[in-house]
Amino acid sequence: MCGIIGYIGKETAVPILIEGLKKLEYRGYDSAGVAVLQDGKFEVRRAVGKLQNLEALLRSETLTGKIGVGHVRWATHGRPSEENAHPHRAGSIVLVHNGIIENYVALKKDLAAQGRVFQSETDTEVIAHLIDSIAQKGLALEEAVREAAKHLEGAYAIAVIDERDPDVVVGARKGSPLVVGLGLGEFFLASDIPAILHRTRDVLFLNDDEMAILTPEGVRITDLKGTELTREVTRVMWNPVMAEKGGYRHFMLKEIYEQPRAIMDTIRGRFSQDTGVIHLEEIGPAYDRLKTAKKIFIVACGTSWHAGLVGKYMFEELASITTEVDIASEFRYRSPLVGKDDLFIAITQSGETADTLAAMREAKKRGATVIAICNVVGSTVSREADGVIYTHAGPEIGVASTKAFTAQLTALYLFGLFFGSLRGALSTDSVKKRLVDLVHVPTLVERCLEANEHIEQIAKHYFKANDFLYLGRGPNFPIALEGALKLKEISYIHAEGYPAGEMKHGPIALIDEKMPVVVLAGKNGVYDKILANIEEVKARGGIVIAIMTEGDAEIAKRVTHSISIPATNQLLMPILMSIPLQLLAYHIAVLLGADVDQPRNLAKSVTVE
Ligand code: AGP
Repeated sequence: MCGIIGYIGKETAVPILIEGLKKLEYRGYDSAGVAVLQDGKFEVRRAVGKLQNLEALLRSETLTGKIGVGHVRWATHGRPSEENAHPHRAGSIVLVHNGIIENYVALKKDLAAQGRVFQSETDTEVIAHLIDSIAQKGLALEEAVREAAKHLEGAYAIAVIDERDPDVVVGARKGSPLVVGLGLGEFFLASDIPAILHRTRDVLFLNDDEMAILTPEGVRITDLKGTELTREVTRVMWNPVMAEKGGYRHFMLKEIYEQPRAIMDTIRGRFSQDTGVIHLEEIGPAYDRLKTAKKIFIVACGTSWHAGLVGKYMFEELASITTEVDIASEFRYRSPLVGKDDLFIAITQSGETADTLAAMREAKKRGATVIAICNVVGSTVSREADGVIYTHAGPEIGVASTKAFTAQLTALYLFGLFFGSLRGALSTDSVKKRLVDLVHVPTLVERCLEANEHIEQIAKHYFKANDFLYLGRGPNFPIALEGALKLKEISYIHAEGYPAGEMKHGPIALIDEKMPVVVLAGKNGVYDKILANIEEVKARGGIVIAIMTEGDAEIAKRVTHSISIPATNQLLMPILMSIPLQLLAYHIAVLLGADVDQPRNLAKSVTVE
């Protein structure tokens, strides 16, 4: 996820672009850049790392152009570097982009065959060359962008300027957000509202396959055929602080709601439903050693460790390979029996967790093939692994991990299908069927989010409880652990996750009328057993909050509260089960007045032991 901004007006563009990028930096901070058009020439400035590095670069400059574009990058294709930083230029075109172009490899091949030379590894530069190659046939910028957009597959929000015409900025979007700002004699494009609130509160929203043409005279909206569209102007009443969170009260809530997009971006371009082929080229040289791997070790910390526990169920079912899951701080100090015939998977959102990094180095030293499932391109773990499967969840600001977690589960499922197919454990038809289940997940997550108000009401009953117990079985057991962690880390209420079958071996002694028991009771292979566990809790006067498959009247009539999730296959159910547990923890923490985004004693990335 990146942040883009475009400006045309009477003021010097750079300060306005920089001010806007400051409000977009939460969307990406691998690099930043601006480009302005002045005296008929482009001036492009880019810097790796945080926006402050670009500001330092600009301090010694006086760029006077009154039209320009700006970008903060969250790397998806190509590591954080100046060559890969936006804006990207090709001929008379400069542009910035947020999204992932799925067919960029094919487009790049065709453009290179026309003699075009590329400076970066990015999909974005391909768009710039594509537009320039069309513009050079004598088309104005608007027509060139319109024609190019028809060839793009995947997601994009772009802001484009043309050295041939200093009086126009063109925006286009598909699958990534783009708003248009209407100021006094000045007009804006931006990834979201915070970037332009300092200049105007009047915005209009572009839909997919629409374009905005900004000139000093005003804004035109068209579809990809060039048909003019009318669009209502919205007056934004947010205060600036709310604006950075996209109108959400906390980053955590915003990121909970970003999960459909995060999952979509994590699967986008990685498989063909027609052929059942899964593309995980970024695994790189590790690919050759996958076929002969005898065992998998998954190692991680915290929420990422919970993802690994679900991964065990996925790999053993989909790829029929023994999978061991370890907490990194334990693995690194054991004498782990890991070696050259093994595959070691490090799961880490940040890519900087000290224990996970140390465990991975230990496994590498012992000869294992190491793959990272990571959310940060260019992070230490991703650079030291033999191969990487990136989750494209975008920057996760809230300390409590939400969208990165469900993106990890998504990546693990995809990898399980890939691995099962590679090892002959899954037929092509079986992979295709499971891919159908996967492509429905973003929509099913949207439906889970619809229970938000209902969950908030349940939270009001129990936010003063001293203890919670979370119970699950099978692939949902790790989600019981995750639900308990979410609650305890942001509300400071003691909570435990437990395998439901273990109730009679101890935790049942805890049951009383004060302790809410959250039971993950989705319809899966152990449903009858979980039903029995619910009765065990009720028989002792316990309070049961059940997360159940929608329409399950049997559960609904037996429990104190029920929260529904849509049906899906049992390996994908953990993703859906996570959503209500995230919302329950969130609302309880808010009711307690806790510091949701920055809970006490915690850090977003634990880079020390
Ligand atoms: C999860 O909500 C916590 N913030 C924490 O457990 C986190 O998952 C853990 O520190 C691992 O971080 P990583 O994924 O960046 O390695």
